This record gives sequence, C-alpha cells and structure tokens, in this order.
Amino acid sequence: LNYCVPCTRKEIFETLVKGLQRLEYRGYDSAGIAVDGDKNTTTEDINNNKIVLIKKKGKVKALDEELYKIDCMDLEVELDTHFGMAHTRWATHGEPSALNSHPQRSDKNNEFVVIHNGIITNYKELKKYLNSKGYEFESETDTEVIPKLIKYVYDNREREDLSFSTLVERVIQQLEGAFALMFKSCYFPGEAVATRRGSPLLIGVRSKYELSAEHIPIQYNTAMFKEGVQEKNSHNRPDISTAVNSTEDGKAVEYYFASDASAIIEHTNKVIYLEDDDIAAVVGGKLSLHRLNRLAGEDPVRAIQTLQMELQEIMKGNFEAFMQKEIFEQPESVFNTMRGRICFDTNKVILGGLKDHLKEIKRCRRLIMIGCGTSFHAAVATRQVLEELTELPVMVELASDFLDRNTPVFRDDVCFYISQSGETADTLMALRYCKDRGALTVGVTNTVGSSISRDTDCGVHINAGPEIGVASTKAYTSQFVALIMFGLIMSEDRISLQARRLEIINGLRILPELIKKVLTLDKNIKSIADELYEQRSLLVMGRGFNYATCLEGALKIKEIPYMHSEGILAGELKHGPLALIDKHMPVIMIIMRDACYTKCQNALQQVTARSGRPIILCCQDDPEVSKNAYKTIELPQTVDCLQGILSVIPLQLLSFHLAVLRGYDVDCPRNLAKSVTVE
Ligand code: G6P
Repeated sequence: LNYCVPCTRKEIFETLVKGLQRLEYRGYDSAGIAVDGDKNTTTEDINNNKIVLIKKKGKVKALDEELYKIDCMDLEVELDTHFGMAHTRWATHGEPSALNSHPQRSDKNNEFVVIHNGIITNYKELKKYLNSKGYEFESETDTEVIPKLIKYVYDNREREDLSFSTLVERVIQQLEGAFALMFKSCYFPGEAVATRRGSPLLIGVRSKYELSAEHIPIQYNTAMFKEGVQEKNSHNRPDISTAVNSTEDGKAVEYYFASDASAIIEHTNKVIYLEDDDIAAVVGGKLSLHRLNRLAGEDPVRAIQTLQMELQEIMKGNFEAFMQKEIFEQPESVFNTMRGRICFDTNKVILGGLKDHLKEIKRCRRLIMIGCGTSFHAAVATRQVLEELTELPVMVELASDFLDRNTPVFRDDVCFYISQSGETADTLMALRYCKDRGALTVGVTNTVGSSISRDTDCGVHINAGPEIGVASTKAYTSQFVALIMFGLIMSEDRISLQARRLEIINGLRILPELIKKVLTLDKNIKSIADELYEQRSLLVMGRGFNYATCLEGALKIKEIPYMHSEGILAGELKHGPLALIDKHMPVIMIIMRDACYTKCQNALQQVTARSGRPIILCCQDDPEVSKNAYKTIELPQTVDCLQGILSVIPLQLLSFHLAVLRGYDVDCPRNLAKSVTVE
C-alpha cells in the first residue's frame, strides 16, 4: 500500500508481480491480482472505487502477460495512494483455474476481495449458512467463504458504523483452520486490513525519508537477532499499538504485506512479524495493530526488525536454476552455519540460541527430532552421532506420523523441530502438541522470524541463506552441521568423548574444502545422468551413516526428475529389495570406509551376483570396491559421521541433471511447494 507516494499503475503491477515471483516457490498453480480500477473500468461502479481482478491459471509469468492485455486501464496514470494485492496459489480445495485462484471476491462487483494462505476447515458449514442467506458461490475454494462472510456482516451492520478492521474481526471470529489474510474493499479505499492465525504474515515499512523516530515513532530493535538467534525476551520492544505513523507531518510511506520476507526485501528491510490473531489495519497512511477480542489496554507490542537478507541472495546469478546455485553454494553455506560458533583453536563450540537452556537440555531423558521431507532426513543423518555424543536415546519422527500416533511426550523430553522454512504446518502442529505436554522445544530453522523460530523455547538458526529451489539442498547440509554442533556441545564435559569430539571438529574445519572437491565431480555426474535419464526407476542403497543419503537422494530423484526412486537400507536388501535387482535396474550403492564397509561389500556381492550393474559412491582409491562397480563416483574421505554431507552432493547434482535432461522445470516441480503451510 503506498500512501502519498505517487505510483503509476504500471509500477504497481510490476511491484506486485515481482513480489509474486519471489514467492513462486510456495506455489505456482495459478495467480491473481486486485487493483483499483479507473474511469474506463467496466466493473459496475460502486462509490467510484472499482476494484479490478485479473486472474490466470499457470505461473506468475502467465498473469504478468495477461495484465498488459487489459486495455481498459490506463497504465501510465499516477495514483497518489493505492492498495493492490496479489497471490500465487498451491491448490488445496479445487483444481488450479482462474476461478479458483485468489483474490476471491464477495460478489460480481468485487466489493470485498480477499487473498488467503492456509485452510479454512469449517468452510462447509459457513458456506451452507451463507447459501441459506442467498449468497452464491462461484469457486470450489474454501477461501471464498471469507469475502462472502465479510459482505454478509457488512450488509447486516444495520446502523452500526463499523470500521474495516472491525468487520474483519467479526469474520475471523467465525473461522477455524489456518490463515494469513489480506482484505481490500471498495467501501474503504486506500485502506488495508491483514490478519493471521497459524500462517505467517509480515509487514514491511518503507518511507522515502530516513526512517527515524521523528517520522515513525518506533525504535528499531536490531539486536533481536544477534548472532542469528532470536532473543526471546528482548527488552526495548517498541510499542506500535500507537501506530506506525509517518504521515502526521505529511510524509509519505509504503507498507508491504507478505507471507515471506523475500517478496519485499528489495523495497525495505524493516519488518514487523504479526502474531496469531493480530489484526493490522492501515487507515489514512497510519498502521495500527490490535488483538482479536482485546480488552481495553491490551494492544500488542511488536518490534520492527531489520532483516539481514540481501537481494542478491535471492537472485539466480549465472546459474540455470536456484537449485543448481544452492548446490554450488554449499561450501559457503556450511561455513556460515559454523561461523562464530566453532572456535577451531580452542575446540569450543557455542550456540548462542541454546546457551540459556543447556542445563535443562543436559538433564533430559530423551531427544525427539521432528521434521518433514528433507528436514526429517537431516535428523536421520545425525541420529547415530547424536546418540553417541549425548548418550541419550534419540527418536526421529516424521511430524505427520508423530501426530497420528498421539506419541507420548513427557516434561523431561527435549523436542527439536527441524525445518528450513520454519513454517511447515505438520511440524508446527507437532510443536504445539509437545508444548502442551510441557516438553522443552528447540527450533532448527533457516528462517529468522519464522513461526517455529518464534514459538520454540530456544533454537539454532542454520544461517544457510535463503533457499529458493523447491528441492532442499543447502539447508540439508547446514541442518546436518547444526545438529552435529549441538552434539559437540552436549559432549563437551565427557572426558571419554574428547578424542571423538576433536576428530569431528577437525573434520568440520576442512569440510568446506572437501565440499568444493566433491562439486568438481559435476561433469562426471552429468555423464551418468546422460545414461540414466530415460530410465523409469533408480534405487539408492547404503547403511549406517550413509543411510540418510539414500533416503534424501531418492527424494531428490522423485521430486525433480519425477523418477521412481527408493532409498534402501542395505541391511534390508535380502528381505525384499533384492527381488528388484537384475541387469536392467539402475542401482546406486554408497560404500564408504567406515564401520559398515564389510557389510556393504556383502550387499555389493549380492547385487553383482544377480547381474546388477551398480554405480558406486565410494572413497578415493578403493580398488576393492571399484573392481565390482559398473561406474564409480569417488569422494574424499572424511570422518564417518560427516561423510553423509559429502555423499549427498553427487545425488543432488544427479537429480538436477536428470531433471534438465528430461526437460522439467527444476525450481518448480509439478504438484510440489517449497513451504507446505497446510496440513
Ligand atoms: C516440502 C518441500 C521439501 C521440504 C519439506 C519440509 O515438502 O518440498 O523440500 O523438505 O517441505 O520443509 P521445511 O521447510 O519444514 O524444511
């Protein structure tokens, strides 16, 4: 929303479309936009404040092209104050189509329009009620009940003079489920109302003038994310219930509402994260916040934070795809995870976000690691070394299954939530479940300010930098390193573990260099992809410290090239998967010089005895293994528990090359979204 900042309609379109493109990794089935119309707008004229909706099936690019086909709107006209909204969708209710895309509207005149991230679980009841009152629905979405409901409240306001935010408040009282919502209405021109419950939402603030207390009566709290870790009870939290107000003295201001900072970072790095049931409203250029059902004096206190993210971090540069860029960034991203946290001279490891809770963590009886997808694999990858270094039982759990089982959780459990985005709905629900049972909660996320980093008792930011490619790559290796660092802290006082700690710390020191060496194998891996890309299936087999690589590699091969792939524990080979082996079935085997080396060689014998032709990921100079291989990918050897960081990289590269050869869009795999904020 730009207030007293003249913008042409073209600039407004460009801002909205660019923002959507930055968010496209969250969903790309369809996209839509709402802006104020002008005198030529054909929509029926309401109060002269016509809202125009433009929606299109497909990616944001398709919407962008559509915008310039609309000839009834003047693109060059300057609008002094304007609130536009846009949305890119990942379908939950109703197929991808223009009609089902957002903004959803109250009626044919677009009196109220809404964009929504999340799911409304009681939409059927609401729809039935609204139907009975004569409101007709046009889409199959759950979201459409929201604009209809606000219109219903508006139509039945009788003589009450309700503000826009009061209308919204009445609407969200009726909603169940998860949502981040933006409302726009022709009855409240130049006003915006936003709210959230369970889905992320932030507000960026930019003024043409230096943002200072004079223009915005707020102290910026840049210390909040010192050392990359959110301080929970930060003092000095400015009160913005009195409103961000840069307009009293006629100054101009722009507000950016978004579900992710990457959408707005090129405009401002000053943001306010909303909490559940906060209602934010901009009226006359003034932003105010209040709580749903607040009592007098209960307005919220929210900090304005300064983001550290750089625009270039979310641009592709010279790479073909974000995924490729992120794979090649891993020498730096794992280094950044360790930066300032491991002192290689004293072998001391410090995680600032955990230090106040370490005593409690060290007293616990059990560690539970919870995540989804790749983040779950990071837990699998580090489980063994964490058991070794903490001498505690470590459970690894897929968030959805953990919840389905109503898993018993106790007050003396410590539960870790591993999530790149910090917003995955299943993981967040597992967090709430464990909090209710009194366990200590620890976030391991890549997203400062995310729901998981805010809602946990303490945590570690993995500092891998923004990850845009839908298939997670650098976040995995950084999660891996962060969890190992946690293990190192837990074992710092155990004399019997000092030699092992030292070995791991030395391994971490040279890890970025070894990753660089692995990345030089790219050509070799591309040539393997040339051979495999027409296959339907690909098995990935290994055990011990490298089992997680099999799961993660197989996931990458499913996600991006859409090939059937299975990660197989080599110990289970004879209990079923061996039946799949013949000379046609492509198999990748991971055989490293660790405690499982001999057992893996047995598995190799079993595969070659059935005419299998394995491609083997092994350590450099291993003639014993190489002689039985159809092909080898030779990796530098490191400490056994770190080897999985190196062994996963060739599979990330393979997945990328297979997808390119099969002609798929690497960063936007079909049916998937990077951040799954619905259950
Ligand atoms: C989605 C993504 C995966 C990711 C998983 C967990 O399924 O496509 O790449 O691993 O969510 O996401 P999180 O943000 O919680 O790590």
